[in-house]
Amino acid sequence: MASSILSRHLASSLRPSLGLSASGYRHQQTPAKRVEEVEFDGPCMKTEVPGPRSKILAQQLAIQSVVQVNFFCDYEESKGNYLVDVDGNRMLDVYTQIASIPIGYNHLALTKVMTDPKNMVSTLGMMPPEQFSEKLVNDLMAVAPKGFSRVQTMACGSCSNENAYKAIFIWYRVRMRGTPEPTPEEVRTSVINQVPGCPDLTLLSLMGGFHRRTLGCLATTHTKAIQKLDVPSFDWPIAPFPQLRYPLDQFERENAQEEARCQEEVEDLIVKWNQKGRHVAGVVIEPIQAEGGDNHASFDFYRKLRGITKKHGCAFQVDEVQTGGGSTGKFWAHEHWGLDDPADIVSFSKKMLTGGYYQKDSFQPDKLFRIFNTWLGDHTKNLFLTEVIKVIKTENLLDQAKRTVWSFVDKYPHLLSRARGIGTFCAIDVKDEDTHNNLLLKARNKGKTLSMDCGTQSIRFQSALVFTEHHAHLFLDILNDASLSSSRVYTGIQCGPAQTDPYTVNLQRRG
Ligand SMILES: Cc1ncc(COP(=O)(O)O)c(C=O)c1O
Repeated sequence: MASSILSRHLASSLRPSLGLSASGYRHQQTPAKRVEEVEFDGPCMKTEVPGPRSKILAQQLAIQSVVQVNFFCDYEESKGNYLVDVDGNRMLDVYTQIASIPIGYNHLALTKVMTDPKNMVSTLGMMPPEQFSEKLVNDLMAVAPKGFSRVQTMACGSCSNENAYKAIFIWYRVRMRGTPEPTPEEVRTSVINQVPGCPDLTLLSLMGGFHRRTLGCLATTHTKAIQKLDVPSFDWPIAPFPQLRYPLDQFERENAQEEARCQEEVEDLIVKWNQKGRHVAGVVIEPIQAEGGDNHASFDFYRKLRGITKKHGCAFQVDEVQTGGGSTGKFWAHEHWGLDDPADIVSFSKKMLTGGYYQKDSFQPDKLFRIFNTWLGDHTKNLFLTEVIKVIKTENLLDQAKRTVWSFVDKYPHLLSRARGIGTFCAIDVKDEDTHNNLLLKARNKGKTLSMDCGTQSIRFQSALVFTEHHAHLFLDILNDASLSSSRVYTGIQCGPAQTDPYTVNLQRRG
């Protein structure tokens, strides 16, 4: 294996050669100049995926819900941008377990933390370890978006959102009531799910949004029907999300009108629901609707949304569970918007390893146990996060994420369209669902890569932050081969620095 490992900094030596032909290309490897840390030199496939060993393990897992298992992994063998499965297939991972592996597999900084016996597991709720507050201040608060002085840890993205929603409702209700002190009637009715203790407040969310599967989150999730089907939900307002037309620079007027239409709808809904006594306590959005299809809107759209929430006294929650942690070239995707007035709550998980949310002071409930659970996250995740943040800084990974912007030239408009992305958070649409599924499968089996769909027709890329242009070239070669063999065409793709990305440029110009 030693012969097959190579610097993952190889890419830095390749970086200047980014001008790829719009009609497709094959990337020529040049020798590594620097070997600082090791990684495999490329993918290597031994079987179809899932392979025989994965299939046997899947049968054994029948005691748990197994349908969502793609294949089983050999995490000891996995390294950097490469995920190795139990059948020995080594795949370039451009999806990173739904954007959740910040600095690649088996990064030395993390294995050190893992093997230190001092790092015993402990709950964080009532008896946290001595270093807990130091961890929050030095790590989570050190990367906090501007305007936040508080953070609340949680275990996962769903419970971060779920508790953030509660914080919003509590904040809203306390303001309505004029005091945090509930009436005896409110106390009595709260335990039997009745008003006024359980007030008829609402949260507004956007069509195509995805905030996950717990009951409150599901009520604000409007994609992937199978995750909602048969589950009772809250009747809360849902506004349209702009359906932008691409390429953006050809549809500036139409897209501006579309965004204005959606903003108006948001405002109308808030007014109408407030009038009928079902007040909109908050608006929750994702900076990029990830699971809903990698849907983008302009920075200006989001700034205006923030203005609308302010005007109507609703909280503004930015769900950065999938976008946070650096993939867009800024630590938080919403930092691209340049908000004058920061959001009220920003939730996170995935690349941050721990879940949680940042909140403004006024969202901190005044009483014990209103926002609480036993674990409140996981101490070891905080220890890992310390290392991840260090690596992001010392290896300059945010700048690297900016540089690995991929812009997709629609050489084959009958097959590929709607190229979009910021930093490494990119997607492209494929003609139809069949072609899309076929391409993904081919890419994985034949082309040795890993990517996943969002929506029904999009292919998206959500690499680790240690992903460089070198890996982008490898990936594009694979996609190229897969699309050639599946549909006799190939994708014309360019890589380039962020400022030449038409999408980013477009957004900035409009923003
Ligand atoms: C935007 C967003 N919010 C929340 C979640 C929920 O995160 P988790 O799966 O950790 O509960 C996800 C998960 O994909 C997400 O994409």
